[in-house]
Amino acid sequence: MIYRGHLIHIAGSPALDEAADALISEVDGVLAVDAQGRVAYAGAWRDLPPELAADVVVDSGGYLLPGFVDTHLHYPQTFTTDAFGGGELLEWLERCVFPAEARLADPAYADAIAAQFVRRRIAVGTTAAMVFGSAFPTAQGALFEKSLGAGLRIVSGRGIQTTGPESAAPLLTDDDTAIGLTRDEIARWHGRELSGFAADARDALVQVAVVPRFSLSVTTETLGRLGDLYAEVREAGVYFHSHLNENDRPHDGEIAAVRDLYGVEAYLDTYDGLFLPGSQRGGESLLGRRSILAHSVHSLERELHRMAETGSSIAHCPTSQLFLGSGTMPWRRTVTSGVNIAVGTDVGAGDEWLIPRVLNDAFKVHMSEEGLLAQAIAPAQLLFLGTLAGARALDQERLLGNFDVGKDADFVIVDAAAQPGFDTALAFAAEQSAEAHLFTLLMGMREAAVAAVHVRGRKVDPGR
Ligand code: GUN
Ligand code: ZN
Repeated sequence: MIYRGHLIHIAGSPALDEAADALISEVDGVLAVDAQGRVAYAGAWRDLPPELAADVVVDSGGYLLPGFVDTHLHYPQTFTTDAFGGGELLEWLERCVFPAEARLADPAYADAIAAQFVRRRIAVGTTAAMVFGSAFPTAQGALFEKSLGAGLRIVSGRGIQTTGPESAAPLLTDDDTAIGLTRDEIARWHGRELSGFAADARDALVQVAVVPRFSLSVTTETLGRLGDLYAEVREAGVYFHSHLNENDRPHDGEIAAVRDLYGVEAYLDTYDGLFLPGSQRGGESLLGRRSILAHSVHSLERELHRMAETGSSIAHCPTSQLFLGSGTMPWRRTVTSGVNIAVGTDVGAGDEWLIPRVLNDAFKVHMSEEGLLAQAIAPAQLLFLGTLAGARALDQERLLGNFDVGKDADFVIVDAAAQPGFDTALAFAAEQSAEAHLFTLLMGMREAAVAAVHVRGRKVDPGR
């Protein structure tokens, strides 16, 4: 199958600051997909290899972009966007989120929310995602079944909580149960395809993560046990996912509470096996190439370097940070550390499902950093953050993230005419430069413009 349209992607495997040089933008472009759903050719229509020219041509009439990668969103919070907690992170969790997540104990409700979650992902072109899961195995089963049925990629794991306030009680288990349920989830789902298991779980549509909610939801005992479990399963490609350094309210905010409770020098230490007082080693590290930490707004220099050193990634979630008043991740300092930065919607603290809306907020918050710290993130870097950096964060760059020949054809067709006024705005921008054109496309795009979504060359379908 051959898709003709304005093809845009970040080719190769560049670093963030090399994204502009790696930008491919072919106004009369083409994406050729082979019978296995892989990219056979991506480039100018005029250069289409003759042996591919006989294939069926679909005139997309729009833009062809790599599928968006959302590296942090919460499935049990599908209906909890714009929930008023009357405070910051910890108040919002206690008053809004824990009660909402407890409702997924009801299998019928979980089934409905899983269906809606999958529909929302398709509507916004999020072809791959790291999904923070529900505490309840039946709800996780519904999520995996429906994602797979639609043909989407998903990495997810049940949210582990062994301690918390009263409203979290329905979500809590003891350590043995937490470890047992996580083991079961890995055995049941890690590496699943529509038919059976993939030969290599790392290639599969469905993969599993070990997901303690955050350090305040678990204990030193839990972290020790999770470290042992993770040491056993990391070779099989199991992921680690959690929150880090999100809320720095003095004395009683998230970071202060973690430091007080564990007596550690840095929050990240609790995930690095150094969770005993004075940041003494108490167990195995949870960091690595398949570890994604959401937020990292207030990380210390040494935390950033440790994440970079271990190949861990940050899911940057500016939309959520605006909503919860969590502050702004220092852009230059974080980039300079060398850690891979991808983006996440963080639905439901984030109230946008569309990755370009998160890129829009990223542009604005970093443009608004104090004085000389202000940075206008280049359009190619925005595209990189929403696609290839996400693939890198998932350690799936060899499979997806751009249109390099041989990768899986995960792509979104964007129809600007379906969004009132957007095509005209884009036409004006195109008269200025390719850079201006891409900027308007990413900053201005809304859900209405997402016309079709493909994974491995197949159109994803919520009803499949
Ligand atoms: N920290 C712990 N749990 C959560 C959550 O559900 N959302 C956000 N934004 N931060 C968290
Ligand atoms: Zn989150």
